[in-house]
Amino acid sequence: MTPPRRCLGAFADLPDGDSRGFDPAASGQDSLFIVRRGERVFAWRDACPHIDGARMAWRRHAYLNAARSRIVCHAHGAEFDIETGRCLRGPCVGSQLLAVEVTVEADGGLWLHGPVE
Ligand code: FES
Repeated sequence: MTPPRRCLGAFADLPDGDSRGFDPAASGQDSLFIVRRGERVFAWRDACPHIDGARMAWRRHAYLNAARSRIVCHAHGAEFDIETGRCLRGPCVGSQLLAVEVTVEADGGLWLHGPVE
């Protein structure tokens, strides 16, 4: 059986070097976020490994530090590598964000593969 897939929007609407949160389940709260670097995207669950259930952005779409070089959890300042999701600094060093499979397809869409709880 093919896993469910869902279009999150247009890749062109994702600014290069920036992050965006998404709420594919229409729950009223973003469950994942994507960081764009050039033609590549890195998608992670919006769930900090430091504390179960902790959301990471201090306001919608704000997942990066000021230099836009790392993902930051604004609860306690943990910093994560954008490409690997590994925590490099803060209270959960060495822990890992959970990856979400998102692809950019020929139609120009950002496609989410599989469910995100
Ligand atoms: S909840 Fe993310 S750093 Fe503490």
